[in-house]
Amino acid sequence: MSENWTEVAKLDDVNPDTNMLRVDAFDEAICIYVLESGVYATQDLCTHGQACLSEGWLEDETIECPLHQGVFDIKTGAPIAPPVTEPLTVYETQVKDKTIFLRPKAE
Ligand code: FES
Repeated sequence: MSENWTEVAKLDDVNPDTNMLRVDAFDEAICIYVLESGVYATQDLCTHGQACLSEGWLEDETIECPLHQGVFDIKTGAPIAPPVTEPLTVYETQVKDKTIFLRPKAE
């Protein structure tokens, strides 16, 4: 495993009903999304208010905030539906032996 990868969870820990899991790493709460197209991770806290995206609705590659229904692209963190305007921090992901690793995205 190359540098800076941090083990955060097992794939089996992910809720099979929501395909999401909240973990704590890198001094913040992070939401992991498991899709057929891959595993993605963003900050869990919405950039618009005090809401956990892991309690929202995952649809395709977007997450809808449970509080005001703002929508983000989970691959890029970009805001794509109001009222959200600030992007999410996204993390690089890697899965090895059913274990999920994260690292901060290179600038
Ligand atoms: S807190 Fe997420 S859209 Fe308002």
